[in-house]
Parts: sequence; C-alpha cells; structure tokens
Amino acid sequence: MAQVQMKSVYEPQRFSQDRRGKLLPYGQWIESLGLPIHRGYFIEDARTLEVAPWPEMECNAAFIELEGMKGVSEARITEIPPGGTTAPVKFGLDDAVYVLEGNGITTVWAEGVGKKTFEWGPRSLFLIPQGATRQYSNARGDRPARLVHNNYMPVAMSMYPDPSFFYDNAYEVPSLLEANEEELYSVASRREGGRGATWHGNFFTDLAVWDGLVPHRQRGGGGHVVDISFPNSGMGGHMSVFPVGTYKKAHRHGPGVVIIIPGGEGFSIMWQEGEEQIVVPWHEGSMFVPPNQWFHQHFNVSKMPARYLALGPLQQTRPSAAKGDRPNDQIEYPEEAPWIREHFESELAKRGVESLMPDGAYKDVNYKWTYDAGEEQGADIYLAGPAG
Ligand SMILES: [Fe+2]
Repeated sequence: MAQVQMKSVYEPQRFSQDRRGKLLPYGQWIESLGLPIHRGYFIEDARTLEVAPWPEMECNAAFIELEGMKGVSEARITEIPPGGTTAPVKFGLDDAVYVLEGNGITTVWAEGVGKKTFEWGPRSLFLIPQGATRQYSNARGDRPARLVHNNYMPVAMSMYPDPSFFYDNAYEVPSLLEANEEELYSVASRREGGRGATWHGNFFTDLAVWDGLVPHRQRGGGGHVVDISFPNSGMGGHMSVFPVGTYKKAHRHGPGVVIIIPGGEGFSIMWQEGEEQIVVPWHEGSMFVPPNQWFHQHFNVSKMPARYLALGPLQQTRPSAAKGDRPNDQIEYPEEAPWIREHFESELAKRGVESLMPDGAYKDVNYKWTYDAGEEQGADIYLAGPAG
C-alpha cells in the first residue's frame, strides 16, 4: 500500500509575491499591521488560532494566508472580547462572515438606509455588502466570540494598493443608497437554479443544521449539496453534506476557495498530479484551501454526516485545468489509486465505523448512487428549508 505523506514542513510556492519575490500590495499591507499571519496548507482549528489586538478595529485579529489562496482571497479572524463591541467600519468590498464560535449582534447601515441589527450564533454565515458600515458586538459577557471573514482584498489591492481606498472611504454604493434592504440584510430563502437548490440571502442561521440540500450526483459518495448566493454579489459558495462511511471523488479547479467545516470529522487529501499528497485532518472549525489545480478529495470518518462550506471562488479563477485525460477534472472511483480506498477503510476501522462505499462504485464510472425515491424525482419535501 502506498503511504500517505503528511507534509511536515511547509514549502511555500511563490505566493503573494511578484516575479522578483517582492510582496504584492496586500502582502505588504498585512505585514505592516504587525498582526499574526498564519500560513501553511490548512488550519486545524481556527477557533484556537493565535490573535493579537488590532487597535483601529477595537478587536483581536489574525490573518490566514493559506497556500491555495495564492494572493486571491483574504481570510481574517476577528475576535470580540467578552461584552465587547468592535469599531464601526465601512469596507468597500463584499465580506462573507462565518461565526466560528460565540453569540453576538451585527449592526449594519449605509447612507440613506436605516440601521439593521441581527443576531448570530455558532456556525452562522452572513454577507455584509460592499460600502456598508458594520459593527459587531459580543452578546456574552463570559467568553470571546470569533468570526472569520472572506473577501477578495488581495485582488482589489493589486488594482489599487492603498487600503484606505477600501476602508472608511467616502464612496457610497448606489444600490445601498436606493434603500435596497434586501442587499443590506435578508434571511436566505430558496430559489431555483444552481444544482437544484440555491439559497439566496445575506443570512444563514446555522450551517450545521441547514437541511435544504439536494443530491449531488456528479461527485459521488451519496452526497448532497446546496448552493449559496448573496444578493447583488459576485461572491457565493456551496455546502456539501455526505453520509457516514463515504468519501467523495477527487476533483480540481482554480485557487481561492476557502473551505470551513461546520460539523463532522474527517480528512481531505490534496495533491498536484504526480506529486506528494497533503493530508488535512478536519473537524468543526477547521479551514483549508485547495491550491490552484490541485486534486482534493474529502473523506467522512465520523459517525454522523460530515459537511463542509466552500466560499468562492471569483468567476475568473474558476476555470479548470487543461482537460487532457481528465475530462471533468475529476477522478472517478474506478480510476483512483487503490491506496485511497484502503487508507479510508483503515481510518474508519480505527473509529469502529464501517465503510458504506459500494463495490459497484469501483467498477462502473456511471454507478448510480441510491437516493431516496422522493429525491430522485426532486420532490420538494427535501427542500423544506433550514431546520432549527
Ligand atoms: Fe473543490
């Protein structure tokens, strides 16, 4: 059996740098702030990552610059002290925010639009639209609350290298001036489109219990998917949920897709074709980003369905690799290296869980997974919306 390699030493590729090795504007900016910058291939637990005071923002913060972000997307931690409130900040880019832990309140407003206040808790996801001012409060007096932000500041700063162009500038976004309340704040509701279930809005209550999903047939493993779209935003994402005892097919695409785990335990393997594999162990609060055109494959080893949230990417970074012998940029089960299945089964055995991967899936690239009859017909009963 081939050995799975844990890459023990982080070997950065050219990252956030120009050809001469000089940091791009975004990299120069975050280095200048003196805050922790966490690098590597993955973050095993963003809930415990080191943060430090960011006085202008009146919070603790850290930056996450994983290899797969390649100067494309930003991930940034905000930690709000017990009972604390951050400074009101206007930011010129759409900012997706996921709650790693804690309970709190966001107040969001724009010129000409009244203030909106909404509550969030663990595993909530929301989008603050570009040009809005936002302020976060921790509703608990006994523990910090922790958020992770995702946006495209590295790309934006390559176009305009001054951060003050994006923070607290005078520009008013026209759609906000028109009192577009949906853009400022709306609870997600189901829409047609995507792969069968698209949820559209600024606010998703708790991704660990979100159940408005549909079968995701292309990627195997008997998994389900929900597409996430934000009002008037180029950002978005999806969440996949896949059953006990299963894993998904390997696939690859462009950089910058930030993956966060709302629930379950498992691991992912990431590799560039022909190169060493990186094993990413994950559980709630883990984060990782598949590097540009690296294959990645997700494995559930928990006794419950596992789920991951994938944010992004920008449309221009989505294109796949040259097709070659991988017509769908995907490795079908019969074509994968045998050690993949063996490694999965040995990890399950350690936890007393049985594989539910059917033999037939390894013999037939067109193997049809069994979904409940209602799902086969796309019955709305499975699209009832968020639970809990
Ligand atoms: Fe992916």
